[in-house]
Parts: sequence; C-alpha cells; structure tokens
Amino acid sequence: MNLEDIREEALKDVNSANSLQELQNVRSKYLGKKGLVSSALKRIKDIPPEERKEFGRKVNELKEFVEDIIQKKEEELKRRELEEKLSKEWMDLTVPVRGTAGSLHPITITLKRIVNIFRGMGFSVEEGPEVELEEYNFDKLNIPPDHPARDMQDTFYVNKPGYLLRTHTSPVQIRTMLKQKPPIQMIAPGKVYRRDDDPTHSPMFHQVEGLVVNEQANFKHMKYVIQEFLREFFQTDLPVRFRTSYFPFTEPSAEVDIGCVICHQEGCRVCKDTGWLEVMGCGMVHPNVLEACGIDTDLYQGFAFGMGVERLAMLLFGIDNIKLFYENDVRFLRQF
Ligand code: FA5
Ligand code: MG
Repeated sequence: MNLEDIREEALKDVNSANSLQELQNVRSKYLGKKGLVSSALKRIKDIPPEERKEFGRKVNELKEFVEDIIQKKEEELKRRELEEKLSKEWMDLTVPVRGTAGSLHPITITLKRIVNIFRGMGFSVEEGPEVELEEYNFDKLNIPPDHPARDMQDTFYVNKPGYLLRTHTSPVQIRTMLKQKPPIQMIAPGKVYRRDDDPTHSPMFHQVEGLVVNEQANFKHMKYVIQEFLREFFQTDLPVRFRTSYFPFTEPSAEVDIGCVICHQEGCRVCKDTGWLEVMGCGMVHPNVLEACGIDTDLYQGFAFGMGVERLAMLLFGIDNIKLFYENDVRFLRQF
C-alpha cells in the first residue's frame, strides 16, 4: 500500500470510529507493532539510497499525521462520553426525602454522645465562630504574640488581619466569660483547624471544650468530672491517668490518658506499645485568663478541658485511620 492510500484510509477509519474501543482498534491497525505505518517505517531500509531520504521524511510525516488525528478524535470521544454520562446521571437534589435515608456520621454520633453526657451533668452548650479573632484564640488565653506556644499549633491565617481559623475550641471559653458572669459550667463543641496531616492528625478536626468557673472549682472536682465522663462515654471502668503537662492557659496542666481500649494495655500499634492513649488536655484556668475576661480571681477559680472528638470516635468504634471520617465512602458510613 502506498503512503497516500494509507493516509486516506486512516482518515476514513478515524472518522468512522464511534467509541474509544473502536479508536483503539484503529490505532493498532496503523501504529501497532505490525500496523501499516510501522511497516512502512520498516521498509525505509529497503528503499534505494537516492530515494531513501525523501521516503523517510514522508513516512514520518504520515506517522505524525495519524497520531495527531487519533489524538484529536480521542479527545472528542472522551468529551462526548462525559457529556452523555452527565446528562444520564442527572439527579434532582430538591426531591424531598422519603422515609429514613442515610444515617448519622460517626463524628456526629460521637459529638451527640459527648454533649448528652455533659448536659446530664448540668453543662450548657456554647458556640463560637470558626474564623476567630487572634486575640481570643491566643492573646487572651495567655499566649502573647512572641510566645513559643503559638508554634505548638500550626495555624491557618486568613487574609483579614487579626483573624485566623481557630486552632482549638478554647477561644469559646473567652467568649463565654466575656458575656456571662460566674458560675459558669459550659461545653463548646466544634470544628478546629491546624496544619497537621497524618493517620491520626487531620487539618480539620473536632474538639469539645469544657469550662467550669465558680467559687470552689478545684483539681479534684475536675478529675471527678473527667473520670465520670469517660466512664459514661466508654460504658466501662477504664484505667484513667492524669499526666502533668503544659498549656499556657492552665496552671497546673495535665493530659488525660486512658488504658488502651484496643489491646487492654497489652501493647499494640494504636497505643505505640505504651498501653495508654491521650484523649484530652486539662487544667486549672490560669489567673491571667480569668483577669483578661474581667473575672475577679480573689473570688473565683476555674478548670477547663479540651478533647479531640476524632480520637474518641476512633477508640469507641475501633477505627485506625482518621482519614476514613472524611472520605465519605458509603461502605464505611453504612456501618454506623
Ligand atoms: C488543646 O487544643 C487545648 N486547647 C486543650 C485544652 C483545653 C487544655 C482546655 C487545657 C484546657 P491539644 O493541642 O493537645 O490541646 O489538643 C487536644 C486534643 O485534640 C488532643 O488530645 C488530640 O486528641 C486532638 N488533636 C490535636 N491535634 C489533632 C489533629 N490534627 N487531628 C485530630 N485530633 C487532634
Ligand atoms: Mg496534646
């Protein structure tokens, strides 16, 4: 077959290909190992030397031509396929739900469980914005601008000066104390944001903050509230330990560990063979924080705590990767 004929036939074949599969067959007919263009390329060496250069140029031109029309056709077919798919897979999001469709997300289930337990202990539920004042997220929590503690929580800033995505729910403590006089006994559930990303850390996650301010609040009272909460949450008498720690807004501060619910303290991957899992931070509210909110520290004292909701949900449901919560895979979500 001469090159002109191959060119014409290829054009015809490409034009009449109506699916990606058909186009694939055309591609192998011309460009495959034994295809017409490939065979022509192999013929170059049999051409008399004086014509070889001219022939070689023409074959290569033909090859580029065929590759080009196939590629254009492929783009067209893909576009057509997508358009068809989009028109067929149409759905009406305004149709009212009949009966019970879907189920609650495991994070929602966990949040409700936490909120219910604290409601039962007489806590009120407060809310704060996710785009928060830097002043409430840091300054009023005893974290001045040059304080190294700002690096403990890698922050997402927003374009507006003085604002950020809150890195914890602790600014809701500030908001509550600024608008309400003691006694205060509140929790604040919500989303928080940090530049964090690995199997147990996500850039967006949930916390529940707790704050109690009155004339008698003390460490023992705090321990009791937290222990009771954990017992109710896990519905069993877990080992709980308070480990000394540091937060700028509490003094003294502690982190709360529970005995690993996965291996029952035998040692496993989840607890990194320590037998313990950290579930929250807590402590007595620092006097600087109370004073920044206009609360008389001669009369009042307080304790506060902040827990990671994903962490508690992972332990409650035995989930080992935090990403599962955000992928919206129905096979995962159906299990709850
Ligand atoms: C705080 O955020 C303090 N505001 C908690 C607090 C409140 C202490 C009141 C004292 C008084 P920390 O950075 O340790 O502390 O976070 C608290 C919990 O959030 C952790 O125990 C962990 O369970 C969870 N957490 C932290 N970072 C992430 C993340 N990137 N993804 C998922 N969970 C996280
Ligand atoms: Mg911590």
